Amino acid sequence: MEVSPSLLSANFANLTPDLEMINRSECDLLHLDVMDGVFVPNISFGFPVMKDVARICKKPLDVHLMIVEPQNWISQVRDLGAEYMVFHQEACVHLHRTVQAIHAAGMKAGISLCPATPLCTLEDIIGDLDQVLLMSVNPGFGGQPFIENVVGKVSRLRKMIDESGSKAKINVDGGVNAKTGALLAEAGADILVAGSYVFGAADPEAAIHSLKIL
Ligand code: DX5
Ligand code: ZN
Repeated sequence: MEVSPSLLSANFANLTPDLEMINRSECDLLHLDVMDGVFVPNISFGFPVMKDVARICKKPLDVHLMIVEPQNWISQVRDLGAEYMVFHQEACVHLHRTVQAIHAAGMKAGISLCPATPLCTLEDIIGDLDQVLLMSVNPGFGGQPFIENVVGKVSRLRKMIDESGSKAKINVDGGVNAKTGALLAEAGADILVAGSYVFGAADPEAAIHSLKIL
């Protein structure tokens, strides 16, 4: 399993030790949650913070934009050196144009779906995607309980991706721990995001390892 710890649950008053833990750990990506207070009812951090994070972090960045009009921020995300730019289906009218622009900027493109948004909204773009990020909580906050319905959604998305020949990886975000992670692994997830499970653990590297082996 690929593991993408979410920095949202790190210590914002002193990020360096948490980033050093990320660098040492077995994780594959670092997940950065950008919130604008409009698309979601919370504000997290923006580009000045992510620029400093990118300087210290040795893992590829998985940037999850929970913002309206994500198409306006492609060059800023590219300037971070991000691996993935992931935006919400619900926040963007022109999915195809935005995915093409992300690719033209040299990044991998992902689209995220809120828990109640159906998979069929991605049917005609799935072949162009590098990642689908299924939310297993309503976006906006760390530490929320896992919405079980996403397990069946992962199985259905696995089938959709395999049948279409898409190379998109299935990433799941929200309420992930070793127990819910095992259900997601079984259903066909490729990447797991985990915030509070990793940064709230007495031993965050061991928490990452417990997801890695799923
Ligand atoms: C929620 C964010 C998540 C969040 C997950 O809107 O997209 O990435 O950090 O936090 P946990 O793992 O604590 O549910
Ligand atoms: Zn996220």
